[in-house]
Order: sequence, then C-alpha cells, then structure tokens
Amino acid sequence: MRVLIIGAGGREHAIAAAMKKSPRVDALFCVPGNAGIAGIAECEPSIGVMEFDRIVSYAKEKAIDLVFVAPDDPLAAGLVDRLESAGFRVFGPRKDAAILEGSKAFSKDLMKKYHIPTAAYETFDDAKEASAYLEHASMPIVLKADGLALGKGVLICNTLEEAKAGVKEIMEDKHFGEAGNRMVVEEFLTGREVSVLAFVDGRTVKTMTSAQDHKRAGDGDQGPNTGGMGCFSPSPFYTKEVDEYCRRYIYQPTVDAMAAEGREFKGVIFFGLILTPQGPKVLEYNARFGDPETQVVLCRMKNDILDVVDACIDGKLDKIELEFEDNAAVCVVLASEGYPVSYEKGFEITGLERFDGESGCYCFHAGSKLDEAGRIVTNGGRVLGVTAKADTLAQARRKAYEATEWVSFANKYMRHDIGKAIDEA
Ligand code: AMP
Ligand code: GLY
Repeated sequence: MRVLIIGAGGREHAIAAAMKKSPRVDALFCVPGNAGIAGIAECEPSIGVMEFDRIVSYAKEKAIDLVFVAPDDPLAAGLVDRLESAGFRVFGPRKDAAILEGSKAFSKDLMKKYHIPTAAYETFDDAKEASAYLEHASMPIVLKADGLALGKGVLICNTLEEAKAGVKEIMEDKHFGEAGNRMVVEEFLTGREVSVLAFVDGRTVKTMTSAQDHKRAGDGDQGPNTGGMGCFSPSPFYTKEVDEYCRRYIYQPTVDAMAAEGREFKGVIFFGLILTPQGPKVLEYNARFGDPETQVVLCRMKNDILDVVDACIDGKLDKIELEFEDNAAVCVVLASEGYPVSYEKGFEITGLERFDGESGCYCFHAGSKLDEAGRIVTNGGRVLGVTAKADTLAQARRKAYEATEWVSFANKYMRHDIGKAIDEA
C-alpha cells in the first residue's frame, strides 16, 4: 500500500515510524514532512497542509492508496472531505466531526447535552457581556478562545483584573486571531491531568495507553503554555478504576453523542482529562493524535498501525484488540530558546547519527529541515522530541535525558523535569 501522511511535526514522524514497521506499507510519503521524516518517507516540503488542491494533485501523482491527515487545522477545514470526494481512502474525522476540537463552545454544549462530566461554563460572543459575568464569578477562572489556537488559547486567571485583561486579549485584541470571536468561561478545576488517545470507527472506541504532557514552557510548570514540552506514558494515576469510569461516562458517551448529532466520528479522539476529587472530567477534546503524546504512545503499541487505521475507516474496530508493551516511555522536547514567544531558527543540528534505532532511544523531528547545503537545521519552536523506552518510567526518564546530550544546536532549550513528579509520587 502507498501511504501519504499530512503534517510536519514530531507526531507525524512518530506516525511515519509506526507505518514504516508495517509489512503492508510499500511506499511512504509525507507532505510537507521534515528532515527527520525525510529519512523514512518521501517528503514534499513545498506543499503546505492547507493547500488542499495541491495535496489532491500530489496524491494522484503518487498513486496514493491511503491518506492519513494528522494536524488539527486541515482536519477542521475539511481536508478529509476534500480527499474523499476526490476518491481517496482517508483516515481522520470529516469537517462536521472535527468540530469536536475546532470549537470549544460546540464541545462544551455537546458534553452538557449528553451529561459528559466537564467543568461548568458559559459561552460569550460579546466582550462586555463576558466582563460583566466575570464581576460575579469566583476566582481563579479559565478563559478559552473558541477556535483553534495551537494549544495556547487558554488563560487561567487568578483575579478579576487578570480575567478582564484576558477578555480584552482574546476578544478585543484578538491575540489568538479569529479563534477569539467567541469565548468560553470555565470553572477552574484541580487534579492530575491525563491524556488518553483513542481510535474511533464511528461507533466503537478503543483507547490507547495513557500519557501525560507538560504544557508550560519552564521547569516546575512555570511560564507560558506551549504545544507541549515533553511527555511520559503510561500515567500511574490512570488506574483501572479511573479507566472503568471514563469508559462508562466519557469515552463511549462521546462517540455515541457525535453519532446522535449526525456527526459520526472516525479517526482519533484525544481526551484531555483531569482527575478531580469529584471524579475524572473532560478538559478538552482534540480530534487527532496529540503532540508529543503520540511519540510516547505509538512506540509502545504492538499492533500494526495500518490494521487499526483500516478497521477505523471500515467500521470494524470491534474486531481489533489494541496491545501495548508493558513498559514506559518518556519524550523530552528540545526547543529553540524563547519558544513559544519568539525564537531564531536555521541553526545546524549535529549528533543525530547516535539514534541508530538499536538503543531504545528515538529522535522524532518536530521542526527541522534540510538547508541548501544539505545540512539538517532547526526550523521551529519545538525542534526534536528525544524519546526513550525502558522497563520503568524512572529508567526511561534517565535514558531520555542522557540522549538529549547526544544532539547539539545553537539555542537548544529543554525542561529538566519531564516525568519528575512521577519519580516523587
Ligand atoms: P486545554 O487546551 O483546554 O487543554 O487547556 C490547556 C491547559 O489549561 C490544560 O492542560 C490545563 O492545564 C489548563 N486548563 C484548561 N481548562 C482548565 C480548567 N477548567 N481548570 C483548570 N485548568 C484548566
Ligand atoms: N500535547 C497536546 C496537544 O497535542 O494538543
């Protein structure tokens, strides 16, 4: 089979690595891809993920049998629908289902209607009304831009002044662009956060092993929110009891709710959960694999990813038993100093050859490219995801941090406490 992956990050590199292991994949392509993915797939860096016409033409030219759409923007904008109407077999939710991530107001209303546990909330289209509401709200409070904002459109405000400034930032100054035309104001919840990714075929939902992301830029969860600075899997806080509760009250009800709304969901749902004293609740849904969660989850999956993808597309996921290795993985993101605010790129990356596939360490490329001289250079805020597998989380953590020393580039920045809370738990 000839498979095309859409996307350019560490997540897509991890998906490509899983595809590469499938004996059923004859040829692998990626648009636009990056310098790491180019080592295992044919990439076309000149085509952007939102250039739908060019993607369709490329898929035709390469006689692609299956397209895997990984990032949120093209999913929300309907790339799956577009490719399907051009006759392609595609993995990912259609536009009407990708709204589960594309609009926080939609997902909150869905959870309310179908009694799926989540934080109490109000939705506002008007900044003045939002500010008036906040006068009487208890603090801290959470403000969320309705639309897609690269995982950064969430503000946690401790005082009324901060909250009012937040409304201005989101709705008036349009800090997150059009995503801020509408805003959700949400009750602040406390508890451990866990991410659970699940394959969905429209009716059946099969969860993967759990993971935990570290969203803040700095050690000790300080600094601004990012796309994710590192991750570990599994989460020791995701117990059998929590899993049973979530299956019953969150996972299946979400898939059933989407079907009942006429928005059958096929693809991956990322459940962002918080384990509150009142039980697990949904913080957010994503309509796709997470980044960097995918890096620590897929490297532990025993199934042939293509079998699972086929089962999702064909509505046969009930026939698949997902299996994961009984070990742990940790991913430490190597970023460009200054991410997520401002950073320089174009610096040469060296030492990548040490990741030879033998050591249980992987280096997934998030933001890299080949320059004119054929050197691999930094090309983004998140540059690499150094990932290690071992028997225990503590061992995987040690191994991943050791491997972060193998690579060098100017302005290399990382957090030093990925998975640390677990050692201490
Ligand atoms: P989201 O993109 O909705 O997952 O939000 C990003 C991060 O903001 C989450 O991972 C949480 O750490 C935090 N967050 C979001 N919603 C809430 C909430 N209702 N209460 C507390 N923290 C939240
Ligand atoms: N790591 C969080 C996300 O992919 O949205």
